[in-house]
Amino acid sequence: MRLPLALILFLSHSFVLGARPTKRFYHTHDYYVLEHDPHAGASLEDCALALGVEVVEQAGELVNHWLVRIPKYVQKRDGVDVVLSSLASLRSLASEDPSLSARSTSSLHARELSSSIRWLNRQQLRQRAKRAPPPIPPDTDSPDPVKAVAERLDIRDPSFPQQWHLINVPYPEHSMNVTGLWDLGFTGKGVVSALVDDGLAYEHPDLAANFWAKGSHDFNDHEDLPTPKLFDDHHGTRCAGQIGAVKNDACGVGIAWDSKIAGIRILSGPITDVDEAASLNFGFQETSIYSCSWGPPDDGKSMEAPGYLIEKAIVNGITNGRGGKGSVFVYASGNGASHDDQCNFDGYTNSIYSVTVAAVDHQGLHPYYSEACAANLIVAYSSGGGQNIVTTDIHNKCSSGHGGTSAAAPNAAGVFALALGVRPELTWRDVQHIAIRTSRVVNPNDPDWEKTAAGRSFSYKYGYGVLDGYAYVMEAQKWELVKPQAWIHLPAIQLSGGVMNANFEMSGGESIGPGGVSSKITVTADSLKEHNFETLEHVTVRVWIEHTKRGDVSVELVSPNGIKSMLAAPRSGDTANTGFPGWRFMSVKHWDESPVGDWTIRVFDKEDPEHEGKFLGWTMSLWGSVIDPAKTKEYIVPQIEHTLPPDHEAENPDSSATTKVLPKPTDHLPGDHDQAEGEATKPAFSQPTKTPESVTSTFTSTTPTSTGTMVPTVDEGLTSQLSNLFGERGWIFGAGAVVLLFGVGVGIFFWRRAVRKRQNYTSLPGDEVAMSSIRQEPTGRTRELYDAFGEVSDDEDDVDERTGLHSGYDPRGGLQFHTGFLDDDDPQSAGTPLNGAAPYRDDPIDQSRRGRSSPGTDESWEHASQTR
Ligand SMILES: *[C@@H]1O[C@H](CO)[C@@H](O)[C@H](O)[C@H]1NC(C)=O
Repeated sequence: MRLPLALILFLSHSFVLGARPTKRFYHTHDYYVLEHDPHAGASLEDCALALGVEVVEQAGELVNHWLVRIPKYVQKRDGVDVVLSSLASLRSLASEDPSLSARSTSSLHARELSSSIRWLNRQQLRQRAKRAPPPIPPDTDSPDPVKAVAERLDIRDPSFPQQWHLINVPYPEHSMNVTGLWDLGFTGKGVVSALVDDGLAYEHPDLAANFWAKGSHDFNDHEDLPTPKLFDDHHGTRCAGQIGAVKNDACGVGIAWDSKIAGIRILSGPITDVDEAASLNFGFQETSIYSCSWGPPDDGKSMEAPGYLIEKAIVNGITNGRGGKGSVFVYASGNGASHDDQCNFDGYTNSIYSVTVAAVDHQGLHPYYSEACAANLIVAYSSGGGQNIVTTDIHNKCSSGHGGTSAAAPNAAGVFALALGVRPELTWRDVQHIAIRTSRVVNPNDPDWEKTAAGRSFSYKYGYGVLDGYAYVMEAQKWELVKPQAWIHLPAIQLSGGVMNANFEMSGGESIGPGGVSSKITVTADSLKEHNFETLEHVTVRVWIEHTKRGDVSVELVSPNGIKSMLAAPRSGDTANTGFPGWRFMSVKHWDESPVGDWTIRVFDKEDPEHEGKFLGWTMSLWGSVIDPAKTKEYIVPQIEHTLPPDHEAENPDSSATTKVLPKPTDHLPGDHDQAEGEATKPAFSQPTKTPESVTSTFTSTTPTSTGTMVPTVDEGLTSQLSNLFGERGWIFGAGAVVLLFGVGVGIFFWRRAVRKRQNYTSLPGDEVAMSSIRQEPTGRTRELYDAFGEVSDDEDDVDERTGLHSGYDPRGGLQFHTGFLDDDDPQSAGTPLNGAAPYRDDPIDQSRRGRSSPGTDESWEHASQTR
């Protein structure tokens, strides 16, 4: 019985490790991620055997994390997860008193197994939402300064004159300011950026020569190449063009036109955490930048953060990626500002590990879609005020309808690519430091600007200002690298006995009355020294707040120097009654400030008599650079961070039992999204009208109350549990041996084929491929670009072609998911009827898209089926 499993393990290790992720079969198997501790006594093989699972492969680039699976038919019909309940039995057996001799041997073994299985999580398919607002035809005047640069640098790209984000004729001060860098020969050579998105049209004449196949993968359809397949899989291609469009005669040019671009396709269907984690580390030695223009819905009512596995992948990326210099994660801040959405309610954009980029329009004004928050680092140019971003598109076309914070992020990524081309040794934190120091203030009279303690200007809308490519790269050239990262987790403050257990059950806490509740914590110079902490960068704050209407709650943090970070401002559409169960906020506003002294947090609400809440407690962490690099520590992501007080030792064997709901996509973006005039006169968050009347300062000593994780007791010993599993499943292993012999043959065949196939793509130096893939006349493309200025978007032409592109859909069954995720994309290109005329389609997703056109159908969840 052990033999086939051992062989399976051998096969999966030798064939799969270090290779491409294998195809997933979510319709026939349930997948889990097992975090294995190789030093705790039990081998991976033994753990897999005890759980009755098959080891598939390592989970992306996460060492000691394994993707395991079990056929769906093995699962019990009553909904009990056999794998999780096996683990629960193991854990309960392991916790038995060893002095009870009858079971001591098995409980000893169970203890070994139980501690060797550090974490087990069932994978759920979830959908990430793209970020792009509606397009508008740009002005087509093509004036002289453009001609001068074009002639000097031999730029013959027909859309170059429309790329105002490169040279802005009417508003010359508002561009990414990179042409001066091109003059110096800085074009991003040797740098790879990955577009984590919905695919990349790698055969497009504007992209083919810069396509980096080795760092590309399709995590939706589990293929090597990120082919855009759905009719509106154009988002990644448009973002890619902004960074790496080739200087030639197709469309426009990218900011880093000699850099390489990879496509990692994750947005064209639901995805599990393990695949999202793998995607964020894919090719992470050669790929420097991961440009991510997506996230939880921007609907003003979502509050969602990456799970443990994804957080681990991000930390793995900044720690081990790019030879230890750290992957640069660039995230779009989000397009939900008109729904009061804020980037501090999105765990990707408020991560300290990501560069969060919001948008300004061609006049440097704040486009009203662009989300504000204390975690915004910078802004970059994008759509608004009647202008869009002009870039490459699928089907060998050009796009003049790209925009939103989706397009701001790749503009920043392009600048970072130029900088890394010159200074490849910049760490992920250097990238942030230089951005903070070189970004430019726009609209100096905007009330949102405030001085930080370090003397810089910061705004929730603009972060530290608009990214200036020239200033950035000039500073990067001479920049002295920062010392390694240091951090301090300050002890938890619990108010009036505020506690939350691992099952999110809250108790205690201080009622939020008029004026709110405040609480203080003191940071001493000694504690800084003790933690090897020199200078401050990010501040994160975790809060535990119970409230009957989350959108009424505001949270602000005031530093010892009187600098205030609004962490949460009211969100009118957020009616959730779940409060803030250990939600983490982030601020970059305190960068380079001395943290010594009292930090005060204040939580208040709208004082609506119909709603009430309690502030249970908070924690604060300071992140910065070390005093002594020799004493640098490695940051370990805790498995459970949401309990109050935090219990970093806690195991969480059954966290996966909680169902994750697919995020409902945003489709509230107004049609005049990009046409509406930007503004520079309103503060991002209106200040509270009331001054605090009674401010309660509460200090609670931080004796951690033990809130042990509940482990369901299954009334079976390990042995009976195991025999049970094998009773049900013994034949599988017998049959497995036969199947295996056949499988080995087939496996070798496919493996060799895959190797051969890969070899065809790994060495894509450019020229050969580029020449052969130029199929279309430049004039044809130009015509299409201009066509796009008319009433009918270029995408609507695609409807006919699209039918053949939908092979991924199978109406007969498979996994269910909500297709409306594309709805937050721009209406024109997403095929949304603008003038009441729905474009025809005859596939299963048709109905949901059509239904979406009427405002009242927000709640209609149409499902399409997808087979893998
Ligand atoms: C842009 O770069 C040039 C150098 O090419 C520099 O002189 C200028 O100050 C920069 N900023 C703006 C806003 O143009």
